[in-house]
Amino acid sequence: MEDIKGIVGKYHHDASQLISVLHDTQAKYNYLPKSALELISEEMKIPLPDIYQVATFYKAFSLKPRGKYHIRVCLGTACHVRGSQRILESVERDLGIKSGETSKDGLFSLESVNCLGCCALGPVMMVNKNYHGEISPGKINKILKKYV
Ligand code: FES
Repeated sequence: MEDIKGIVGKYHHDASQLISVLHDTQAKYNYLPKSALELISEEMKIPLPDIYQVATFYKAFSLKPRGKYHIRVCLGTACHVRGSQRILESVERDLGIKSGETSKDGLFSLESVNCLGCCALGPVMMVNKNYHGEISPGKINKILKKYV
């Protein structure tokens, strides 16, 4: 929890920097643990419900543990017409998890999103910060193997 105090201190306990504090906290733990949010609330003098409101508003934040590799499969319109639903199903089958879940070994977590901002490359998925474009169900296994 000293880490959290360090993060809050870095932003001078300034309530207007809450999003940055949450970003740094998530970068540290890969999600936002309840105990961390309680300490942030205490240290920054921000009511806990207000912190939860921010943490649940932005999709970038997760209140559940994420895998070491977080996969986002785009189901936005441009990707959808190019078969992204089949991409998602293929990833789910390969990893044995559904969208919104984390694999038992903690290696992968999966979510579907509405746009990753590079529609021309559709269908697109991201693994952490890496984009994989123009993918097909047959390429999924090879892509995932790069991360294990
Ligand atoms: S719709 Fe998939 S990247 Fe935009």
